[in-house]
Amino acid sequence: MTFSKIKQTEDEFQVATYAKIGIAVERGSRAWVWTSEGEKYLDLYGGHAVCATGHSHPHVVEAIRDQAAKIIFYSNLVYSGIRAKAAEKLVSIAPNTLTKAFFCNSGTEANENAMRIARMATGREKVITFTGGFHGRTADSISATFLGKYRDIGKPNVPGHVSAVFGDLGSVRAVADLETAAMMLEPIQSMAGVCEAPPEFFVGLRQICDDLGIVLIFDEVQTGIGRTGAWFFAGSEAAGGVVPDVITLAKSLGSGVPVGACLVNDQVSEHIKTNDLGTTFGGGMLAMAAVLATIEAIETDDMISNACRVEQHLRDSLAAFPGVVGIRGKGCLLGIEFDGPCAPIHKKLLESNIITGTSSDPRVLRLLPPLCVTTDEIDMMVEVLSK
Ligand SMILES: Cc1ncc(COP(=O)(O)O)c(C=O)c1O
Repeated sequence: MTFSKIKQTEDEFQVATYAKIGIAVERGSRAWVWTSEGEKYLDLYGGHAVCATGHSHPHVVEAIRDQAAKIIFYSNLVYSGIRAKAAEKLVSIAPNTLTKAFFCNSGTEANENAMRIARMATGREKVITFTGGFHGRTADSISATFLGKYRDIGKPNVPGHVSAVFGDLGSVRAVADLETAAMMLEPIQSMAGVCEAPPEFFVGLRQICDDLGIVLIFDEVQTGIGRTGAWFFAGSEAAGGVVPDVITLAKSLGSGVPVGACLVNDQVSEHIKTNDLGTTFGGGMLAMAAVLATIEAIETDDMISNACRVEQHLRDSLAAFPGVVGIRGKGCLLGIEFDGPCAPIHKKLLESNIITGTSSDPRVLRLLPPLCVTTDEIDMMVEVLSK
């Protein structure tokens, strides 16, 4: 099909979702995608922050292919060797207090379950989240999203959600109390414009949660699985070494096969009994093969070190660059802050066959490339910027 036929057909038969880039993607490899018209694009948006291992990494493809030939799916009603291996592997890379995984299908579902787990563990209902945070589009997660229009489009909101200001411990103390079940945050607020908080903020949150018996949840749907130059933001230097009670994951976890997860500690998991949680597709064999192969590919190809190298290279390349006010973020979750709107730059890059992302801060261009992106590929973007 030609691009114009694909566009016409999708627009006719699909309900509107995102504002689309005017290309139809047919195949991909590493940080590159090829279109229906045979054009090649450098994907510095990583298939919407999903394709951490690069597009169609051979090890992930082989694992999915082999698993599909054996059995595609059976639910948690039965045991499964591939699920056992994936759960063990995921827990093995997590901070060591997080000892168990719950598998689901998406980021929003992971966050819904994390909040439910916290309510079960505490017997309380209130949840604190942060201005600028994004947590998903299902009822509880969208009610927890105090960013732009989201709570409005999610009305009627689930009761019991209150917000504090990201980075401001005083605002947290003002709302945290003995009725609070959970505090949930994106440790780097990606959609808000790659906003960061200092390590002391996370240390302070951990202290408040410990003092009041609140479950601390890091939404690592974007930051997890190597993206910020460590397997997780949790426990890193940037987090002041703080490990939450629950980490939620999705995006990179299955290299594009839909899968989400909650990683929980013993204090929390001891409150969860058989039949409290569940989802038909969570922990299915195909998704589990993708999870295991994703982690193996990141390890084998040393992609976490590469993510750190890429960050440093971008920072060096854009230091004292005309129009660039700052670089935000870590590893392969980066925001380039310009001195004016970045929409024209985003457009120019696209015209040069380079896909990047915008954010809800009009001056911040977001890069979420595969963790295998090379410094030469980053240079291609820098060259277009300098023009
Ligand atoms: C930080 C964060 N949390 C949750 C979500 C929701 O994930 P999903 O779209 O898989 O439901 C997203 C999606 O962009 C996200 O970036």
